[in-house]
Amino acid sequence: MSYDPVAAASEVLLQENKISQRVRELGEQISNDYRGRHLHMIGILKGAWVFMADLIRHLDDVEVTVDFLGIASYGGGTTSSGQVKITKDLDQSIEGLEVLAVEDILDTGLTFTYLQKMLNARKPKSLKLVALLDKASRRQMPVYADYVGFTIPDLFVVGYGLDYAQRYRELSEIRVLHPTPEDAGVRAAGH
Ligand code: IMP
Repeated sequence: MSYDPVAAASEVLLQENKISQRVRELGEQISNDYRGRHLHMIGILKGAWVFMADLIRHLDDVEVTVDFLGIASYGGGTTSSGQVKITKDLDQSIEGLEVLAVEDILDTGLTFTYLQKMLNARKPKSLKLVALLDKASRRQMPVYADYVGFTIPDLFVVGYGLDYAQRYRELSEIRVLHPTPEDAGVRAAGH
């Protein structure tokens, strides 16, 4: 059978034009906060790269540099465990820099709690977080994003960079994935 991501995830949660409008607004908000300054953006791979690529093109009058942090979370079932493996470290030191971490989605908050500690230990001048999506109702740790695209219900979503088992990242909208019972056991919080 051929691969048909749209059939597997048939429910659209966020249409492409709604996402692009919100990303534009986030870009304006971030530009207002960092205008005329140097902002060092760190994309958390792999989920955030599509969002980050769009977001940086809406920054205005901000001196932007980028770096990427690759991580893999080990989770059982549908949630991450907070045990994070670094698969690609930063290329550059962040000491003294104004850093904006770019995440695809905040869920339990376990992953970003770990990353926040790790990044703060490298002594940035400031550290903020932008998350495209926020499943606020699932939070287990007191983590918040400074900029949030959309607060969404407790659903597993794919597309626009977000994956399920490394698939669906190419979708231009965000869709809900309704798991089959067999899927549920293997769904790790993958980046
Ligand atoms: P947390 O540690 O529970 O906050 O998990 C955050 C990470 O889990 C995100 O960066 C995603 O990689 C992954 N994740 C959580 N929810 C979803 C989802 O609905 N779709 C795809 N990935 C998700």
